[in-house]
Amino acid sequence: LTVSFISPFQLSPETLQEVSARLRKDLLRGLGKHSHHKAPVKMLPTFVRATPDGTEKGDFLALDLGGTNFRVLHVRVEEEAQKVLKMDSQICAIPQEMMLGTGEQLFDHIATCLGDFLESHNLKGQTLPLGFTFSFPCEQLEIDKSILIRWTKGFNCSGVEGKDVVQLLKEAIHRRGDYHIGSVAMVNDTVGTMMSCGYKDQSCEIGMIIGTGTNACYMEEIKNVKRIEGEDGRMCINTEWGGFGDDGCLDDILTEFDVEVDKTSINPGVHIFEKMISGMYLGEIVRLVLVKMTKDKLLFKGQISEALGTRGLFETKFISEIEDGLENAKKILTELGLDWSLVDASVVRLVCDTISSRSAYLCAAALATLVNRIRNNRKLGHLKTTVGVDGTVYRKHPTFSSKLQKAVRLLAPQCDITFLVSEDGSGKGAAMVTAVAQRPAHQSRLLEEKTVYILTPYLQKH
Ligand code: GLC
Repeated sequence: LTVSFISPFQLSPETLQEVSARLRKDLLRGLGKHSHHKAPVKMLPTFVRATPDGTEKGDFLALDLGGTNFRVLHVRVEEEAQKVLKMDSQICAIPQEMMLGTGEQLFDHIATCLGDFLESHNLKGQTLPLGFTFSFPCEQLEIDKSILIRWTKGFNCSGVEGKDVVQLLKEAIHRRGDYHIGSVAMVNDTVGTMMSCGYKDQSCEIGMIIGTGTNACYMEEIKNVKRIEGEDGRMCINTEWGGFGDDGCLDDILTEFDVEVDKTSINPGVHIFEKMISGMYLGEIVRLVLVKMTKDKLLFKGQISEALGTRGLFETKFISEIEDGLENAKKILTELGLDWSLVDASVVRLVCDTISSRSAYLCAAALATLVNRIRNNRKLGHLKTTVGVDGTVYRKHPTFSSKLQKAVRLLAPQCDITFLVSEDGSGKGAAMVTAVAQRPAHQSRLLEEKTVYILTPYLQKH
């Protein structure tokens, strides 16, 4: 009986290959001039053309919104040592009501946190450039002009979708009037992650996040990005792969629990792929399965505790802990007020393992699509590349990364991938992008063949 709950989550290698093939088509739809408007995988151009060249330097501020916490950072980029130093950082909680309140409240709060940070670090008199890691799908028009397409994950503030986020931030700072900021560079967390790893390893051409949400960016040939003028060189594309499946193309692999998680989320129908994978949803999927199994008298003598019966109370971090050891599992089940037996504890571990494995395999399928695409783009028989990765699920889960890596090897056998966990891509990476963006264009070195990050404004074809 337990098997009937588990098996819909177990995807065969053939299914994963099929998922990868569907994503391959969707990448093309997102890149196409006429098809991108309706494409579920948005394939958003960023301003990143290639990787850092080591001449960047200076002091920067960075804001990081969209992951587990909102953070303000002061970062120094040193030229000679080729180092990105985090000088200081501060976490500011964003209360749940604010995530669902008005945009004005949210940006006022951000401006207050930044103001407090500048005050306590004696930086208020300076006008520092700022990198804004804003981890949501944005149509970037210029490095400092970025229109929010829609909120994802836990956010749904009114009056922000369709607006320029930099403008909203500047207006909030202006309303206070007690400090100034310099030029702003907008960065998606995937891009920050790629940039912070690219600083160390020049062959890093993919940035991937598996945290609260999931997404990846990669270096695409500009000639394939039909919405942008130009034929030569590459540009980093923010895929927004979390939106894969929003047109129903993954319906055949969704379980009743995925459908339920989507229905009860704050954005039903949006980011279907993300909802099968990322930290914001994995715990809830497990909870729903456990509740159903308990109702069917397969667990806990048929008794659902109040905690298990409450939406959102089975946290994704419990999955990592439970899979880490049976003792942890027992402790968590007790804390959830459940009357468990040893068999129950093992079954719960199996459920956690099944759902986190599916997440790792789906990510592997998506990543395989990207590396295979890069290999084909370059007409290479064999591709050696590096992926910068970040996110709580990837970092904290005991076996997630090894499962993902093994599955990618299977799905992309002609690609040899090095995985590099990024050191604070959202903070340091944002500073890096800002540093490069500040570099006068004539100082930017565009090395052919070698990857060098250069940010240049691009013209949109329409
Ligand atoms: C969501 C956002 C995306 C971000 C990802 C990881 O999918 O839409 O922009 O990169 O979460 O944080």
